[in-house]
Amino acid sequence: MSDKKSANAMWGGRFSAGPDAIMEAINASIGYDQKMAKQDIEGSRAHAAMLAAQGIIEDSDATAIRKGLLTVLSEIEGGTFAFSTALEDIHMNVEARLTEIVGPAAGRLHTARSRNDQVATDFKLWVRGQMDAAIDGLSALMKVFVAQAEAGADMVMPGFTHLQVAQPVTWGHHMMAYVEMFARDRSRFEDARKRMNESPLGAAALAGTSFPIDRDMTAEALGFDRPSANSLDAVSDRDFALEFLTSCSICAIHISRIAEELVIWSSAQFRFVTISDRFSTGSSIMPQKKNPDAAELLRSKVGRITGSLVALLTIMKGLPLAYSKDMQEDKEQVFDAADSIMLSLAALTGMMADLRPNPEPLRTAAASGFSTATDLADFLVRALNMPFRDAHHVTGALVKMAEDQGCDLHELSLEQMQSVEGQITEAVYEVLGVENSVASRVSYGGTAPSQVRAQIARWKEALS
Ligand code: ARG
Repeated sequence: MSDKKSANAMWGGRFSAGPDAIMEAINASIGYDQKMAKQDIEGSRAHAAMLAAQGIIEDSDATAIRKGLLTVLSEIEGGTFAFSTALEDIHMNVEARLTEIVGPAAGRLHTARSRNDQVATDFKLWVRGQMDAAIDGLSALMKVFVAQAEAGADMVMPGFTHLQVAQPVTWGHHMMAYVEMFARDRSRFEDARKRMNESPLGAAALAGTSFPIDRDMTAEALGFDRPSANSLDAVSDRDFALEFLTSCSICAIHISRIAEELVIWSSAQFRFVTISDRFSTGSSIMPQKKNPDAAELLRSKVGRITGSLVALLTIMKGLPLAYSKDMQEDKEQVFDAADSIMLSLAALTGMMADLRPNPEPLRTAAASGFSTATDLADFLVRALNMPFRDAHHVTGALVKMAEDQGCDLHELSLEQMQSVEGQITEAVYEVLGVENSVASRVSYGGTAPSQVRAQIARWKEALS
């Protein structure tokens, strides 16, 4: 058997070239880490400037390096750069091309640096940019929800618990609930950003360096608040990526909940909302259908985003300090989750901007299912000074009576009501209307339009 043949037998098809090809395939990250080209070049330019400022390399070399790096960047951005798998990753691809452009001076760039602090720096810069994008995306999304809330501040709809009609609420109130959720999502990104904004550059391989580097200078040039205080930690943790993924996951969960509501609400059985044609699709076989595909996909994205979080948590678990190659696997997870969350934010923003709530079905459903029974009980407490437990019991009897007669609470006559509780007066009918019900819930954070408008005003100010 020839060598070639035995290699084929062992590794088959794609890896027929044998161990070298397999090693290259498992080792290389250039297929995906080229996404960080800009950050890599930015980091290298800051490093070169610092090396020159500290007299570690000649000014002329630093100038050539910094200029050459810009040429590399323009080649990459222009799509003319030839990425090489043999050169493993973005760091070595950039450096190899830099060497072709500026000659041996390029070799001085890697003084007092390792790929370990380089990759940590690049990745942090990339993740930080995505955190900023998520913060902006969430602000835009919140504005759309506030606009929906304002347009429907007194539009009555059913509030659900257990997906059973519970009490009437307002559309504005429901929309503003999401504003609160997305505000916390935004603050999670902001908070994580603050915590992660320390520069790993200068940690070198793991122990720091004997060259007289100025880590404050590179930190400042790259927009970090300070250099990280422990070189081992700087090259070996990816908690910033985990926090990004956690923040994405929780946000995706919130998105999935409104998405699910949109799927339910847009169904023929509910007709609470109309999703615009721009965010629905037709069926290839059933001409009558209009499917909420975008909402369904928004509902599903949380699966892959949370999958990325679990993947990276598992990758990081039990790794000894400092750098291990396992950590190269951090990127695809984060890249995929970032793409998913950004697309989700954009799609939901578009859908919500176009969405039309349908007041009639919303109001009809709000009045169904004895939704004002709590108002009736509260009335008995207030008007007749009944203990709430007794009022609850009387109301239960009235609900049963209405149920038996197949009517709603407000359709019972005063005589019928008085047969259950003699002291009930005509005034009861006022509390049985859904508009009165919502208007009465004026407790802080309640569903009354006056309360909802106050929250809308607060958020409009905060988001302007
Ligand atoms: N491509 C590598 C990564 O993403 C860069 C760091 C390599 N460091 C090393 N010591 N092999 O993690």
